[in-house]
Amino acid sequence: MRAVDLIRKKRDSAEHSREEIDFLISGYTRGEIPDYQMASWLMATWIRGLSGAEIASLTEAMLHSGEVITFPELPGKKVDKHSTGGVGDKTSLILAPIVAAGGLTVPMISGRGLGHTGGTLDKLEAIPGFNTALTLAEFRKILGECGMGLIGQTAEIAPADKKIYALRDVTSTVENIGLICASIMSKKLAEGIDALVLDVKTGSGAFMQKEEDAVRLAALMVETARRMGKKAVALITDMDQPLGRFAGHSHEVIESIEVLRGRGAKDLRELSIELSAWMFYLGDRTKSVDEGLVLAERLIASGEALEKFKQGITLQGGDARVVDDYERLPQARNHKEVTSHANGYLTATNCMEFGVALAMLGGGREKKEDAIDPAVGLEFHKRIGDRIASGETLVTIHYNSDAKLSEATERIEKSFVFGEHPLAPKKLVRRLVGA
Ligand code: URA
Repeated sequence: MRAVDLIRKKRDSAEHSREEIDFLISGYTRGEIPDYQMASWLMATWIRGLSGAEIASLTEAMLHSGEVITFPELPGKKVDKHSTGGVGDKTSLILAPIVAAGGLTVPMISGRGLGHTGGTLDKLEAIPGFNTALTLAEFRKILGECGMGLIGQTAEIAPADKKIYALRDVTSTVENIGLICASIMSKKLAEGIDALVLDVKTGSGAFMQKEEDAVRLAALMVETARRMGKKAVALITDMDQPLGRFAGHSHEVIESIEVLRGRGAKDLRELSIELSAWMFYLGDRTKSVDEGLVLAERLIASGEALEKFKQGITLQGGDARVVDDYERLPQARNHKEVTSHANGYLTATNCMEFGVALAMLGGGREKKEDAIDPAVGLEFHKRIGDRIASGETLVTIHYNSDAKLSEATERIEKSFVFGEHPLAPKKLVRRLVGA
């Protein structure tokens, strides 16, 4: 087989066999197929799509590109959550310590920033010293000690996704149901979990902007998990505006700590607790989701979840003093207010543009090798439904370099939509799939 023939085949809308997909994935993982050929195949796939059989083959090929871990030495259930990504979506940093404090094990393999969305690994690395590149032996040890560990794909676990994910980030080949399903499920099925909660975002800041696409992706991932013997449920959640008040790495760490202290933005707090509750329920820790909600609230109120976060940071080499002293996190030197030129009610946002603006300021990558500036961030002062007067601050931009500041500002300004009448707020959790 030759990669060039398989690129042509997908370009011409034909269906791949399982052997062809295995050839592409194993060849790329081993470095025998170069980035430029994989990038071409990804773009052909993005445009032409994948059949159900191709998605199943791709997911399995990516899963078996590395080890499938098991944790026979750890008692109790292992559960995880994965989000399809959005702007300001930081719930992993909050729910991992809540759920570990509640007695379940959370062996979380996460990703870096992808497209306009931020990544859990990049956010954690804003904490000085935090190591997301643990060896498998270190990961096991930390999970045994504190019940939570957050790492990236490695050369041992989901190595195909490690390489393909980084390539998709910079080649505009993210928003495709088959590629997203294979990427997420190849990581999650490698983790040795018993149950998985999926947060599938929909709206202007999501990869699946239309709710019906989000539902289709959710159903596909739930079915894939169940086929592999895992319990799974998906929540379809709102991403028509940023989640919480901040986007940007240091800022999101701080906002997560605030929620773990019982404070923080209402929407972020609610969603983190709801996802934790589903994890408790699927992990057989509680008899119902409602009981899970009560448990999650209690673990926050008692301070146990925050203590667990500190322990997790320390075990992964990070400086846990950031929890009590936010100035130990990278801080931007400058800030700028973006104000409203209109009077009226905020009726919508083009939320993806906030993520793009943040990336332009250094909070995302344009090329694989780019470094992230963890200090830059956006602070959102208004929510959909708010009445806004001309001159009021919509967003505070925290930045270091002003190289692309005016372009980023313009993108942010244009992303607010005003109307004369308030709209009824949309539900944060729009639907459940597989419940
Ligand atoms: N999260 C992932 O891990 N992969 C995707 O493709 C999208 C979101």
